[in-house]
Amino acid sequence: MQVYIINGPNLNLLGSREPELYGKSSFEDYYKTLKAYFNTTTISYKQSNNEEELINVIHEAGNNNACIVINAGAYTHTSLAIADALRSVKVPAIEVHVSHVFARESYRHISKISASCIGSICGLGLYGYKAAIEYFINQPK
Ligand code: DQA
Repeated sequence: MQVYIINGPNLNLLGSREPELYGKSSFEDYYKTLKAYFNTTTISYKQSNNEEELINVIHEAGNNNACIVINAGAYTHTSLAIADALRSVKVPAIEVHVSHVFARESYRHISKISASCIGSICGLGLYGYKAAIEYFINQPK
């Protein structure tokens, strides 16, 4: 089983960016703990601030038959292109948000990508990524 974690804009700043919303851990540190915990699963991680790169990584995950865990950051609320990319690949995706987007500004209540995903997790901090990977691993083959 292979899983691609795909993080969108500004998520490279996790740990220092608005820590009251997003916590104090960098994603790189959390990624190390995920790799150690899921040590029999191949986990790849890509962060980009660029929509085109995010779409290309979604295609790559599809070509590699890998499950997708995606936090598209603010593109969640705007990007039909990312929604289309997720629909275009034949692999399942789970949408993750670190913060509780529904308890925040109303413009964060809309996700363009949710309907292209099999499920969504928000508000559980970085644990949302672990929960998503756990879900994929526990699916019957
Ligand atoms: C976020 C929520 C988005 O609204 C925001 O634009 C982000 C992070 C989250 O993980 O909570 O960049 O996706």
